[in-house]
Amino acid sequence: MSGKKTNLKTNENIRKDFPLIANNTFAYLDNAATCQKPECVIRAEAAFYEEHNANPMRGFYPLSLDATRCYEGARSHVASFIGAGESEIIFTRNATESINLIAYSLGLSRIKEGDEIAVSIAEHHSNILPWQMVSRATGAKLVYIDCNADGSFPEEAFSVINSRTKLVAFTHVSNVLGRCNPIRQITDMAHEAGAVTVIDASQSIPHMKIDVNDLGADFLVFSGHKLLAPMGIGVLYGRRTLLDSMPPFLTGGEMIESVRRDGAKFAEVPHKFEAGTVNAAGAYALSEAIGYIEEIGYEYITERDFALTKRCMEGLEHTEHVHVIGSSDPKEHNGIISFTIDDVHPHDISEVLSGDGVCIRAGHHCAQPLLEHLGARTAARASIMFYNNEEEIDRFIESVSTVRSRLGWG
Ligand code: ALA
Repeated sequence: MSGKKTNLKTNENIRKDFPLIANNTFAYLDNAATCQKPECVIRAEAAFYEEHNANPMRGFYPLSLDATRCYEGARSHVASFIGAGESEIIFTRNATESINLIAYSLGLSRIKEGDEIAVSIAEHHSNILPWQMVSRATGAKLVYIDCNADGSFPEEAFSVINSRTKLVAFTHVSNVLGRCNPIRQITDMAHEAGAVTVIDASQSIPHMKIDVNDLGADFLVFSGHKLLAPMGIGVLYGRRTLLDSMPPFLTGGEMIESVRRDGAKFAEVPHKFEAGTVNAAGAYALSEAIGYIEEIGYEYITERDFALTKRCMEGLEHTEHVHVIGSSDPKEHNGIISFTIDDVHPHDISEVLSGDGVCIRAGHHCAQPLLEHLGARTAARASIMFYNNEEEIDRFIESVSTVRSRLGWG
């Protein structure tokens, strides 16, 4: 079914697996926005349509049963990848939709005036706006857990979690700082207060092994497109007992047991939360992407992340007028390095680097409250994946070191 894979574990060979990397000379360092896809994943998505395409869970003829097998097989693979039960995995479009599902379903039905929702200041907007919506709709108070300048959270910041707190939303790894947060401690604190936890693993799962039980997460979300899979497929993990007790988010086809003129009986989870025709090809390709990650192994990934992050941060440290946001320790960055250059807007940094064939992200990174808290407003960001190499990092550093002079700052 899938495209060829070269002998893994040498960077040179791994790069051959990624057509867009192998066929171009630019240095792609915008992996936290979306990463490149290996050929086997691109082939898997096409193979679903070439070999297995029918509407899953609807037909009793072999092709539809085959499509169902591909889709449910992907669910089972995702479940074992993160230590969950099959019925605890819901396919969505992306992490944003997963969080909105929790907010509209559990948030609006359970949270009331007088309750509190606690979110970290380090969240992407997708883990803030749904909670602002719930707060507006219910009268519950939204409170923030503030971090230090290096992205760590002081003990006292967690004092906002109390008996009124019904939900705590936290990112595992910040998309700006790259810092990995102590999720187990946070979920323990939240549970002690009687709150449920929503963990955004979008930026952690490409870099580290996730086990929902070790993290103590009630809900955990991620997008496939940051994990080598296509855009348009995402995951919501939810503890079975919670999912069972929640009303549906979207209603429509295939999420019911029966429908009458005046009502309906909904299907069991996970199908209760998957209304309409699903992205079966995306799920199938996500399973292939997870297979690729498993074959490479997180040990290799972590090692490469650290080596490249260290090289990148050392280069930036030795470049005048450049300031890395967050910790000065490469171990605390997980391949994500946001920075500013004195007197230069990040959009200009990005444009100059683009001229040198270096792709990075610039702007507020959909994390305006965090950047405001850190006094930065905007930043440039390089983000690394295991397929990047030393030459790309050096090209990035070389380009960064010329930005000011090329813009007339001497
Ligand atoms: N959330 C993605 C990023 O941080 C898009 O760039």
